[in-house]
Amino acid sequence: MTGTRGRLVALEGIDGCGKSTQALILAARLDAVSTFEPGATPLGAALRHLLLGRDGAPVAVRAEALMMAADRAQHVADVIAPALDAGHWVVTDRYSTSTLAYQGFGRGLDQGELEAMVGWATGGLRPDLTVLFDLPVSVAAARRSGAGVDRMEAEGLAFQQRVADGYLTLAAEGRDPWLVVDATEPVESVAAAVWEAVEVLAGPGGIR
Ligand code: TYD
Repeated sequence: MTGTRGRLVALEGIDGCGKSTQALILAARLDAVSTFEPGATPLGAALRHLLLGRDGAPVAVRAEALMMAADRAQHVADVIAPALDAGHWVVTDRYSTSTLAYQGFGRGLDQGELEAMVGWATGGLRPDLTVLFDLPVSVAAARRSGAGVDRMEAEGLAFQQRVADGYLTLAAEGRDPWLVVDATEPVESVAAAVWEAVEVLAGPGGIR
């Protein structure tokens, strides 16, 4: 499959950063497979309900990390790997970095242990590009207001701030190709910045 393999672009950021809007725009422009975490497979949908519902059983921090990883393992097996193997671009609204940011920086779990767990769950599949939509926590909270608050969002601003700072730390470490976009800019400007990076990633051969 070498040479025809697709590319994986992961969109990341705190709740309310606008990445879901950008995922729609980018996937349409690329004619990519558009997907998301958690919850894109039947198993994942059940896990998402358990993970984010506010009326369910308590979820211990390590159980939360394992359930996110299980969702991702199924997502890679059912959706992402087959699409890449078939030569498609894949745009995913959240991927492994969400676990490092939320369960690592947010919940305080050990980064090295989480990286090993995520690597195992994904079979080592890493994004070709990770885009971070950077937005002050207060602005994101204002954008979210009115929408239903899930179990993660109910953690409050200090939690979101740790996650936001964690994302920037991970981007600065730069283990994978990263683009950090100022998500306070208008939707079209943000989309243009993302597109520019995707064109660089595609290289001289173009998107297809
Ligand atoms: P998301 O679907 O982006 O939220 P929404 O539908 O409200 O836009 O993500 C759901 C929540 O799950 C979000 O608060 C981030 C959290 N999450 C983790 O904590 N760890 C993970 O590994 C993933 C994928 C998501």
